[in-house]
Amino acid sequence: MIKSIEHLVYEHENIKRMLDVVRAASLRVLAGEAVPAKDFHAMIAFIRNYADKTHHGKEEEFLFKAMLAELGMPGQNLIRSGMLVEHDLGRLYVSDLENAVNAYAAEPTEASRLDILVAAGSYVNLLRRHIDKENAAVFPFGDRQLSAEALAAVDADSERFEADPANAAVREEQLQVLADMAAKYL
Ligand SMILES: [Fe+2]
Ligand SMILES: [Fe+2]
Repeated sequence: MIKSIEHLVYEHENIKRMLDVVRAASLRVLAGEAVPAKDFHAMIAFIRNYADKTHHGKEEEFLFKAMLAELGMPGQNLIRSGMLVEHDLGRLYVSDLENAVNAYAAEPTEASRLDILVAAGSYVNLLRRHIDKENAAVFPFGDRQLSAEALAAVDADSERFEADPANAAVREEQLQVLADMAAKYL
């Protein structure tokens, strides 16, 4: 049986590797290279499909839902005004990044280069802090405070999610994107 929290921590490592890729690509843009729009779209696809739909989706649907249900006001404050707000802010920065990359592809201006760097940097910094907070505080809190029954239900939901062939296909495809981008930029 999958330990849901351990698996989420493992996914954080893959997400942080893509954050390193985004930062490395941003440095090249800063140095004056042409913006590799196709690569940025691949990074955005990984962020949306793996970091957001798969990873944040499981947090929101399984672990955080259980914490909201069982852990009273402290749990609700931590999840609602902390983690969920940051997931939403991340989605906003990724849309900003996509718009800036598209604007640059249509007309390569200095302003759109700046917009790319601002959006990419905002996302990377937000997600690094978010992941550190989950690893150090939010997950250990849930692990300690949730009932054994609730944790077992979260593990069972995660197991079903990972076993679903459609989810497995998305996961494999996106981990390949991560490997390709890491080989190119890191
Ligand atoms: Fe999260
Ligand atoms: Fe997370």
